[in-house]
Amino acid sequence: MSKPPMARLDRLLANLGYGSRREVNALVRAGGVVLDGVTLKDAGAKVPIVRDLPARMTISGAPVDPPAPLTLIMHKPLGVVCSHREPGRSIYELLPARWRARMPGLSSIGRLDKETSGLLLITDDGDLLHRVISPRHHVAKRYLATLDRPMSGEEGAIFAAGALMLEGEDSPLAPAELEVLSPTEAALTITEGRYHQVRRMFAAVGNHVTALHRDRIGGLSLPADLAPGAWRVLDQAGEASIFG
Ligand code: URA
Repeated sequence: MSKPPMARLDRLLANLGYGSRREVNALVRAGGVVLDGVTLKDAGAKVPIVRDLPARMTISGAPVDPPAPLTLIMHKPLGVVCSHREPGRSIYELLPARWRARMPGLSSIGRLDKETSGLLLITDDGDLLHRVISPRHHVAKRYLATLDRPMSGEEGAIFAAGALMLEGEDSPLAPAELEVLSPTEAALTITEGRYHQVRRMFAAVGNHVTALHRDRIGGLSLPADLAPGAWRVLDQAGEASIFG
């Protein structure tokens, strides 16, 4: 088995947001860090960066936060924004406050509008982020849309054609798959992530989306037991299922 990557304890804890190097040094000297049952006294000690570190290390008696790379699956609730910069309550406020100081920082993999709910991935893993959002990788995202008016019946063919031009854009959308669930409800699967794409697609065929929820990214579905606003760490199997 290959050896895990190692990091200096003070650097690890500072990168996880536990404080400045000076503050985490003080924490270590006070006996606040325990690894595999042994109190660490040297802030310069090398510690393994492994996924199960929270099961092995405690900080002031509580499991250490998961080290990078870290990916979370969240059920984004309605009414919160995905950006640090937009006004309003953000998805990052649903996470522990300390995590805002993590290095590398966490960011959402693509965005959902303030008034869209559902499956959102949040990661500090740049490669994963790129693989999920890059149109080249064709990762499908499925949205459940509720519409203002009954569909005409032509929407499926128009979306599947790969020729639909959205207002203000200079290239047509890639083909998308529509599944009609009722006259005013549909599941739409797209492989791109253009601005307000689903709402604009229905607007382009003369309709209006009144509710929007994402329930799938690739082969990963929103777990039924993940309530709006709740999140959990995505394990490696979950991550692999996105592309599986
Ligand atoms: N399309 C939209 O219109 N909104 C979203 O949040 C996601 C896709």
